[in-house]
Amino acid sequence: MQEIKVPEGFDWQMWINRWDRMQERYIDKRSERFEIMVQLVRETQGSISHILDLGCGTGSLMLEMLKAFPDSEVFGIDFDRTLLSLACKRLGSFGNRVHIIFDDLRQPSWLKQISEPIDAVVSATALHWMQQDELTNLYGQFAKVLRSGGIFLNADHVGSDSGKTQKAWQKRKEESHNQGENCETWEDFWADYMTALGLKTTQICQRVLGGWEGGIEDGMPLTWHFDKLKDAGFESVDCFWRYDCDAIYGGLKS
Ligand SMILES: C[S@@+](CC[C@H](N)C(=O)[O-])C[C@H]1O[C@@H](n2cnc3c(N)ncnc32)[C@H](O)[C@@H]1O
Repeated sequence: MQEIKVPEGFDWQMWINRWDRMQERYIDKRSERFEIMVQLVRETQGSISHILDLGCGTGSLMLEMLKAFPDSEVFGIDFDRTLLSLACKRLGSFGNRVHIIFDDLRQPSWLKQISEPIDAVVSATALHWMQQDELTNLYGQFAKVLRSGGIFLNADHVGSDSGKTQKAWQKRKEESHNQGENCETWEDFWADYMTALGLKTTQICQRVLGGWEGGIEDGMPLTWHFDKLKDAGFESVDCFWRYDCDAIYGGLKS
């Protein structure tokens, strides 16, 4: 992937750490989610050669997969070059086991970038950026890249059919996000990171806010995901972990 130009002496590790701390502010039990996904991949798959992380950002989940499956190659796709640059730095020591790919999951072009049969398609807190029809379409595409018996796992926001439940979850979430000192917000991270990269505020808006075109921020109910996954050719669809309005769900490619 073509890397962005940065000022000399740029402190990559500091920004990688800041991203993780900022995400932990919003994503309850983030590392527990990663551990469970690794465990599910391990326990459902005989051998693991190829793993694909969608909306990989700075490569946090890719790192866990690379460490857990030393014989695997891990592909990560994202449409934000500034985050992918952090992923390249974070994962550089894994050499040719890592494939960082710039593409937009809403475009069919990403499929052409994957030529190997994939054993596990994983994603963390990214697919809710899609609209319902885009996500439905993606589930069909995941079934195409996965080999038979391969697993799809998504750790993300899921909604409730009940407005009251959704409201209660939302309240708890907002309260927990406001706890703790020195917690950086999404907006503050981006403002500082763009400044450090020498990019302008207008570019921040294009990149971070312009990428947002009304996805399903609150998530869809699990029953919606299960139906769409079954329609796409998945079996054994299930919820493997849940914490209020967040879940790990997925299934096996038939
Ligand atoms: C909240 S971040 C999570 C990143 C990473 N999975 C993690 O857990 O740290 C959401 C990611 O999804 C990516 N993303 C959103 N929409 C996308 C799209 N249409 N194509 C590719 N990546 C997308 C964003 O660029 C961002 O890196």
